[in-house]
Amino acid sequence: MSSVGKAIPHESAREHVSGRALYTDDLVGRFTGLLYAWPVQAPHAHAKVLSLKTEGALKVPGVLHVLTAADVAGANNVGPVRHDEPLFPDEVMYHAQAVAWVVAESEEAARLGAERVEVEYAPLPAIITLEEAIKQGSFLTDALRVRKGEPEQALLEAPHKLKGKIEIGGQEHFYLETQATLAYLDEYGQVMLQCSTQHPTETQTIVAEVLGIARHRVTVQCLRMGGGFGGKETQANTWAAVAALAAWKTGRPVRVRLNRTQDMTLTGKRHPFLGKFSVGFDDAGKVLGLKLELYSDGGWSLDLSEAVLLRALLHCDNAYHVPHMEVVGRVCRTHKTSQTAFRGFGGPQGMVVIEEVLDRVARTLGLPPEVVRERNFYREGDTTHYLQPVKDAERIERIWYELKTASDFAARRQQIAEFNAAHPHKKRGIALTPVKFGISFNAIQYNQAGALVLVYQDGSVLVNHGGTEMGQGVHTKILQIAAHSLGVPLEQVRIAPTRTDKIPNTSATAASTGSDLNGAAVKNACETIKVRLAQVAAQRFGVNAQDIVFQEGRVYPLGSPGKALPFAEIVKAAYAQRVQLWSDGFYRTPGLHFDRTKGQGHPFHYFAYGAAVSEVEVDGFTGQYRLRRVDILHDVGDSLSPVVDLGQVEGGFFQGMGWLTLEELVWDAEGRLATKGASTYKLPSLAELPEVFNVRFLERATEPGVVYGSKAVGEPPLMLAISVREALKDAIAAFGGGLVELASPATMEAVYWAIERVRARALVSGD
Ligand code: MTE
Ligand code: MOS
Repeated sequence: MSSVGKAIPHESAREHVSGRALYTDDLVGRFTGLLYAWPVQAPHAHAKVLSLKTEGALKVPGVLHVLTAADVAGANNVGPVRHDEPLFPDEVMYHAQAVAWVVAESEEAARLGAERVEVEYAPLPAIITLEEAIKQGSFLTDALRVRKGEPEQALLEAPHKLKGKIEIGGQEHFYLETQATLAYLDEYGQVMLQCSTQHPTETQTIVAEVLGIARHRVTVQCLRMGGGFGGKETQANTWAAVAALAAWKTGRPVRVRLNRTQDMTLTGKRHPFLGKFSVGFDDAGKVLGLKLELYSDGGWSLDLSEAVLLRALLHCDNAYHVPHMEVVGRVCRTHKTSQTAFRGFGGPQGMVVIEEVLDRVARTLGLPPEVVRERNFYREGDTTHYLQPVKDAERIERIWYELKTASDFAARRQQIAEFNAAHPHKKRGIALTPVKFGISFNAIQYNQAGALVLVYQDGSVLVNHGGTEMGQGVHTKILQIAAHSLGVPLEQVRIAPTRTDKIPNTSATAASTGSDLNGAAVKNACETIKVRLAQVAAQRFGVNAQDIVFQEGRVYPLGSPGKALPFAEIVKAAYAQRVQLWSDGFYRTPGLHFDRTKGQGHPFHYFAYGAAVSEVEVDGFTGQYRLRRVDILHDVGDSLSPVVDLGQVEGGFFQGMGWLTLEELVWDAEGRLATKGASTYKLPSLAELPEVFNVRFLERATEPGVVYGSKAVGEPPLMLAISVREALKDAIAAFGGGLVELASPATMEAVYWAIERVRARALVSGD
């Protein structure tokens, strides 16, 4: 059997479970004279820094230096998109922002030193909530707009209309490995960084800018991350810059690792959103016109907020054809951490809004929500609101009806109705929701990747590519691609850690494109090598080069496997003939374009599809609930690695469920994050796993134009969890009927209050 599509474990699975897998901070023991850095964090959400005195800190035994703006020879700025993030600020923009860093012989000395740095602040008024930001006109961007048709006219003429709003909470990444960097100067005067980053090239860029040196003097290596989830796409850079600056200043190796509280108070999260909608629809529940306003809470600086907002704008159609639609969005500035990429990158927030709208349409008309959903699906030939044709729209219905049958949906609806009739204080609910998610970076230049594949004379293969491993399995998939493409066994291939001096100018491993882009670049390099080797083999066998077969480490003329020679022997022969045994590879996604001012174009190479059915049971006294059963049918194309993909679908769903039901970020009136540890921030655990969890992949799903017919899988499954939120509303509605106003996250408390509202209305109307 070939390597691609084989159900193998993650390449580091054994190391992960046995604790032998090394992460950045595990390397500290390899350095002598290692120094540690600790931040001086401001006690205000917004304040001027009037003075900063370091003398006290320098008296603490072991403290060597206090890093301030005076140490920066290059740019005192780490803003990745807009230069709006001073590394050492003279104006504090969020509570706990670092104003200086103490460098010492031990972590303890650095911490004690930080306590002795005297900073004088002049507090300024702070904006903490989205509403305040909107009211005060505090924005980080101009409005973005996407529009199709004449939504005002459609709303005017529609037989039914609804208006409403929904607030959606943010989410902490809570990667197991917090932000970490080790920086040192190597024996050749180069700045070396071991860094837990999804974007080594950008980390390299920012470090070079802060130090004021050329990028060829900075190398970033990422071994693996203990999770990134978008939180290390831009937000590893700041801590890397601190470590690099300290190493540059002292000439000694420096470790910066945020502890959990520092990580939660210093780094950005998923954007909270406010969505306002006006929808017009007919008696059948078909949406005729829709106007949406989306506001995101970007925090103190821009970071990736504009791109995140754009993706929200491009996903608030989800799987539905709305003939007349306008969506306008704006990023608000608040005095909080700078919110950033998080699995789905704004797509989830956009999709929650449209699913909320359809649920309200259904409950207004007294129709089952799944019926309203299916009446609005995209069909073959439709285009999105940004005018991209919905390729493979038939997959939406194929997945939907296949899952409806496989999950026994109709019978369960009936059983649930019977259960609810018999139980006044416990209600069950069920919901089926679709996912359509666009694959490609919206920043078109990022849709490129490079690779460097080396074949040694013993036939062993070393693969370098630009993707970073964060647990998602990109290295596993690329091993499979390289082995398959070269026709060698998996064991003959190794992947080298990601390094900026091997593959330059890489894109972040993000937007779920890691294996699409890097896999295609690796395949390109392997094919170049194979063409050369085929010529050598053709001479040897006296046949045409096109007729040479490479399979499982053997090379033979087509039809004569008996004549096979080992791959290594052909490699040796090639070397003797001075044939190049290594190659670079490159890939860029074809056909992408997007006009931001018009809000139109073809921003996605293709769409990933899926659907999920969730069933819940809710307690009317407490709002407590259980997830009884989940059925998922997801489209991964021809899976490159089914075990890895299964993990991505299950993990993505579960992380989405956490966001929508448990994980609540609370900032107090002073802008202090009240939920800054696992004790106050509720994460999903084994107890929240559904009692029955069925995950299947769509069959006959080959995706032409993507490496080996596969599809990206990293982010799309997160949005399958919207079915849990919708199922909760279904159960809540059973306490009294009509519209359900459920906060997001739908915590137990939120569910309780939603039930109370439904009940109160039922009492008044005498239902
Ligand atoms: N899976 C694990 N285990 N850990 C992660 O950090 N990040 C997610 C997803 N799956 C993540 C993960 C996010 S946000 C993205 S964009 C993709 O993986 C990135 O990897 P890929 O492009 O190789 O799928
Ligand atoms: Mo993922 S949010 O694109 O890193």
